[in-house]
Amino acid sequence: MGASLNKLLLVLLGLHAASVLAAGGEIGGHALYQANCASCHGADRLGSNGPALLPGNLERLRRPEAVKTISEGRIATQMPGFGDKLSTEQIKALTELIYTPLATTPEWGVKEMQTSRIVHQAGKLPDQPVFKADPLNLFVVVELGDHHATILDGDKFEPITRFATRYALHGGPKFSPDGRYVYFASRDGWVAKYDIWNLKLISEIRVGINTRNMAVSSDGRYAMIANYLPHTMVVLDTRDLTPIKVIDVKDDSGKSSRVSAVYDAAPRKSFIAALKDIPEVWEFSYDEQITQTNSTGTPSFQPRRLRLEDYLDDFFFDGSYKHLIGSSRGGVGQVIDLDAGKKITSVTLPGMPHLGSGITWDYQGKPVLATPNLKEGVVTVVDMTSWKIEKQIPTLGPGFFMRSHENTPYAWVDVFNGTKDRDVIQIIDKQKLEVIAQLRPSPGKVAAHTEFTRDGKYAVVSIWENDGELVIYDAQTLQVVKRIPMKKPSGKYNVFNKISRSAGTSH
Ligand code: HEC
Repeated sequence: MGASLNKLLLVLLGLHAASVLAAGGEIGGHALYQANCASCHGADRLGSNGPALLPGNLERLRRPEAVKTISEGRIATQMPGFGDKLSTEQIKALTELIYTPLATTPEWGVKEMQTSRIVHQAGKLPDQPVFKADPLNLFVVVELGDHHATILDGDKFEPITRFATRYALHGGPKFSPDGRYVYFASRDGWVAKYDIWNLKLISEIRVGINTRNMAVSSDGRYAMIANYLPHTMVVLDTRDLTPIKVIDVKDDSGKSSRVSAVYDAAPRKSFIAALKDIPEVWEFSYDEQITQTNSTGTPSFQPRRLRLEDYLDDFFFDGSYKHLIGSSRGGVGQVIDLDAGKKITSVTLPGMPHLGSGITWDYQGKPVLATPNLKEGVVTVVDMTSWKIEKQIPTLGPGFFMRSHENTPYAWVDVFNGTKDRDVIQIIDKQKLEVIAQLRPSPGKVAAHTEFTRDGKYAVVSIWENDGELVIYDAQTLQVVKRIPMKKPSGKYNVFNKISRSAGTSH
């Protein structure tokens, strides 16, 4: 820290002595930031009209990209270019600053959350859709290119509406059990509740500063959010997005941890979270029959802590939710018996499996789990009865998303993490366990994230570009039936497949 500050000072002192010291004797980057950026990105860099500018939040923005953004601005957004106003060194100092952690972790408790809460729609809205399309065969399409979402009719493949979201939605959106409401979480910690039937944003609340993902309970009553910053988990009442509880994530010695992910385990009536910096899994029951509740009947959300031998970065449940298979840094998968609360076996998973995107199907009478791999060109198929590897299916390169549907014999996997062939989607036969076809939806452009219609007859693939599109395939003939322009459609989520927990999609 001292060294990098000194370096920063040297750079600034040599070149821009005048701007180095602000009135209070602050270091240049800070003064430049306050003068030029704070109005939009917040005095404390926690975000305001513009996104938060903190190292954790900027994980996906490479430094040269940051320099370019500050110099040139971003077209069609409020982000102005500073290339005319600031020198190269000043822009460098600002870049250095935004990748420097804050000296102290900002407070983000119930009080801050409540202050942030916005009620867009207070009254009761009609209990039926305002459109004719099948409300269960809609897709919610997240468009990262300009931070919008589209509600798409999954029969006609026509957009019904399109609306602005918070900056950089993170993790897939989650649905209420009837499919009426969709909940979004953003990278900067904003949670939004949207009424699909009425096409209206209901309310929003900021529950963290850097958020990983969110889960909604199978009874639709609670949302749980996993944060990277601060090291907390938050429970919301889904009716009005008011906070019910903030949980500090710490081990027995007081060491705190980021939360890797939280998922709903419907048959267990609980949320399950993996921690990034502590080798533990936490389970939070919302089953009013068995868990402690307060005077209003709200579960206490006390974690049941499962202490493990190794960290979990990512995980997956078996069909019964009795087992959790988690990947850890060393390429070893741990299989954890959730009732016994301990590891029962391990599976060697080469490279870096992306279990969060894993899917299951029946292969020769037994359930198998298939996961793409973030580092190697392989899809690993694991027998979920013996926990042995059934097959390693070679692919063109490392992938990210994998999808299928009960009504199709194929699984679709991308080459999203590859260095070449990123425009390819590979089709795997679920019974032959091999690649049987290869699609190039838009040659030269990155293709990713497949999702099926409710009946599994059509597959929808994203072209991951600012001027991208959705490419709709007949899932049987593998022919393109339609293309719909979209702004970097990062993901699309079919209401029915999500609320019915289709085995072909992640939850
Ligand atoms: C008038 C408001 C405004 C000002 C002033 C402003 N920004 Fe921004 N900035 C934005 C907005 C809005 C975005 C999001 C743009 C988008 O949608 O991609 C943004 C985006 C960025 C990003 C990209 C963040 C990411 O997650 O990709 C960086 C980096 C950034 N700004 C740095 C700065 C710096 C440094 C300054 C001061 C020199 C500054 N900005 C001044 C509004 C502003």
